[in-house]
Amino acid sequence: MSDNFAQLVKQQADIVRIIGDYVKLRKSGAQNYSGLCPFHKEKTGSFSVNATHGYFYCFGCHEKGDVFTFIMKLESISFPEAVRAVATKCGIPLPKREFNSPEEAREAGQRRQLLDIHEAATQYFEAALKAPEAARAREYLTGRGVTPDTIAKFRIGYAPDDFNHMRNALKPHFSEDILRTSGLFKSKEQADGNQGQLYALFRKRITFPICNEQGKTIAFTARALDSQDEKGRDIAKYLNSPEGPLYSKGQVLFNLDKAKADIRSLGFALLVEGQMDCISVYMAGIKNVVATSGTAFTEMQVRLLSRFTPNKQVILNFDPDTAGKNAAEKASTLLTEEDFEVRIVTLEGGLDPDRFIREQGIQAYTAAIRGAKRYMDYLIDRAREEFPGRTSDAKVKALNFLLPHIRRIPNRIQRDEFAADAAQKLGIDSAILRQELKQAAAQRVESVRSHTQDPASETERVLLRALVLPEGDPARTLVVEQFIQHPEWYDGLPSSPLLESLANGPAPPNLLDAAPDQQSRALLARTLHEAEDPSSTTQPMTEQVENALHTLEHRQLERRQRELRTLIAEADRRNDHEMLTRLTSEKLQIDRKLRLH
Ligand code: UTP
Ligand code: MN
Repeated sequence: MSDNFAQLVKQQADIVRIIGDYVKLRKSGAQNYSGLCPFHKEKTGSFSVNATHGYFYCFGCHEKGDVFTFIMKLESISFPEAVRAVATKCGIPLPKREFNSPEEAREAGQRRQLLDIHEAATQYFEAALKAPEAARAREYLTGRGVTPDTIAKFRIGYAPDDFNHMRNALKPHFSEDILRTSGLFKSKEQADGNQGQLYALFRKRITFPICNEQGKTIAFTARALDSQDEKGRDIAKYLNSPEGPLYSKGQVLFNLDKAKADIRSLGFALLVEGQMDCISVYMAGIKNVVATSGTAFTEMQVRLLSRFTPNKQVILNFDPDTAGKNAAEKASTLLTEEDFEVRIVTLEGGLDPDRFIREQGIQAYTAAIRGAKRYMDYLIDRAREEFPGRTSDAKVKALNFLLPHIRRIPNRIQRDEFAADAAQKLGIDSAILRQELKQAAAQRVESVRSHTQDPASETERVLLRALVLPEGDPARTLVVEQFIQHPEWYDGLPSSPLLESLANGPAPPNLLDAAPDQQSRALLARTLHEAEDPSSTTQPMTEQVENALHTLEHRQLERRQRELRTLIAEADRRNDHEMLTRLTSEKLQIDRKLRLH
């Protein structure tokens, strides 16, 4: 990315419009605009943008800079990335990038064509919704209160009941490879092992584009008009594009492109499950809404949200059914662990947001949002509903339901508060139960999500269990070797002093003496205790160790990736080309590794 190009972009970029995507600005002088500062929390606007000179300044927190600095800081991206982002927003064509390898060039070219085909498909579906054969689709939408405005805004379309038409329409413009990779088509394997003709994946469905943050379509979700196919078989209500080079479902939030400015200016996001919920809420005027689209909420999505909510606040309004409740609790756990302040909306009458707004109106909905419960209170209420009564049995059960949640809150003060609230609301007066609550508050369990309950601490436990095995055991040797080769993997683990001490020497007669401090001692004691539990797991120890090491490496790669972003931005600012090349190539390697990891 040449300086000349950055210069050119800066000259052409309208800083007021670019910043206006993130901050609500109003004119406050001939050339000045002001608004609420996105870099610190404030109630009156001390953030100002100067249109002529192209800079911003906050009188409150003294952040300042030009259009690139702004994007770099807010989006946590490097200088070259910021230049590209601004250029794209202004419609300035990017210079031909220099690629490190033909493979990289091919990937970039493929991505561009995939974006093109998704744009073409979006237009194809939009046009199809206007055709005579889409009459039922239009009626359906009208019946659900979807207005022409909404259709235009969300680029809602229709996939006709036809296997071949869309392919024939797109074929002249795209290569066979792109048509296949797009995920918009399917084919059947022939008897000779070759793939047959491509046919449309989405048929007789209302289509909703799923967009990236820049608002470009990268996938579709499509709702069936009927619940059964022509042969009377049940079909999925919603069908989504498969994952591919552009789209991975765990990394996207539906509507983030349209919602991000309002999420930023309001300081919180409203998270719903379904895209129809999201669309209804948005069109009713609550614009800081995004949807998970019914898939499990991921760590990536948490990170995505935290980029737009520096104060880390989110309100969840999932479906009131069991699936929705479970999904809301999983998402809340993940968010709470990342220090988010979570609130939960429960709508009366068991309605989802879409129906609630249609039946009760936006005012009732706004009131429900305002009345959202803190997640802690929500959990305590749930515990009481689930285990009603004042018997000590009910109290113990309710408490056991709450303990793991308490342990996961990263903030000590909040854990204490939660424990105290729970004790009071559940009417817990038993000294033993109180003690359990206290202990849960005192000891946070570090957990790093995904499939198992808490892999991070599980990872550490596996390593500890391996290290207390006799000298010469293959599982132990594996850990010791890796510890010597990759000490950086262990950075920041609560148990790393203990791991180090165990890995470095023969175990003392009393194992607990290997612990360098009181905390490690407790951890070690617990691990030894668990290791004796025959029900724990049957997976071979070496396999467990391999998985644990894999997790550690993954964490390290992600950490280095974040570091490199900052370093690259720095090197770029200093114009240190040599360093920049080195760092960029390291980052590409890591990106690739992580993709395969
Ligand atoms: P719901 O079943 O609650 O659908 O699933 P909904 O939002 O109320 O749908 P409408 O209002 O009947 O149109 C919530 C979300 O889960 C995903 C979709 O993203 C949906 O919005 N989902 C649901 C699927 O991906 N596939 C399905 O078969 C069903
Ligand atoms: Mn619904």
